[in-house]
Amino acid sequence: MKAVCFAHLTDIHLNAPEKNNPLFGLDMTAKLRAAFADLASLKTKPAFVLISGDLTQDGDLEDYKHLRTVLDEESAKLGVPVHVGLGNHDFRSPFRQGFLGEEPSEKNYYYAFTHEGLRIVMLSTQIPGSHDGKVDEDQLKWLEDVLSEPAPQGTIVVLHHPITATPSALMDSHLLLNIDELAAVLKGRDVIGVLSGHIHFHNIGSLHGIPCAAATGVAFGMDSTSASTMRFLDNSGYNLAAVKNGKLSIQPRYLPGEHRMLFEWDPAKQPAHA
Ligand SMILES: [Fe+2]
Ligand SMILES: [Fe+2]
Repeated sequence: MKAVCFAHLTDIHLNAPEKNNPLFGLDMTAKLRAAFADLASLKTKPAFVLISGDLTQDGDLEDYKHLRTVLDEESAKLGVPVHVGLGNHDFRSPFRQGFLGEEPSEKNYYYAFTHEGLRIVMLSTQIPGSHDGKVDEDQLKWLEDVLSEPAPQGTIVVLHHPITATPSALMDSHLLLNIDELAAVLKGRDVIGVLSGHIHFHNIGSLHGIPCAAATGVAFGMDSTSASTMRFLDNSGYNLAAVKNGKLSIQPRYLPGEHRMLFEWDPAKQPAHA
């Protein structure tokens, strides 16, 4: 079976250009373009790119129109498709209107596709009005149905909120709310990996023997060793993935940068969200 290499990006937190880089003064569009430039420099080009949510910082219509423009350009330059999922910073209706070019609607956004026998399932953990994450009942039923037939090279499930513990007690409180319900659907099927984001640092774990990898953010990172405060870092990275004969390997990558601390937030004093 043909090997499949692909890139998993997450947490790009894009803003429309007219907002003038409101988050830490960082140019998220430049960071996203730098990640694509890094992909273009690889000796083996990824077959496709996945982005697992927090596509925008504010979820405004103009942000999603800008996202469409940038991803169309970068996808064309790299010559491969880009597939996106929703995170807690995303809003369904402006996403559907601004990015998909559809009528605005609160309909959830999840789907599956297959490439060279490898099935990718893009879930949505987005809960309207909340920064918590959950795979809703309808999706769980749909996923059960999708996984009832195995794919030749197995299935990779992609969702924004991670499902395995981190070194940080604080970030563990940001994991998917219904991990056990999702795990029950994944267990005993052909799932060879679960990819996520949200925590903004590389974190590898496993659940029922399934490898689970969260990637750091393209927009910014978070200090995985901080147990009680959120330490926002100026770094950028993503995961490269390779599937050979139904076996997954993951290579976490950081782009060159200072990794300097941007901001330290104490949630005990003020609410914060990854
Ligand atoms: Fe994020
Ligand atoms: Fe998030």
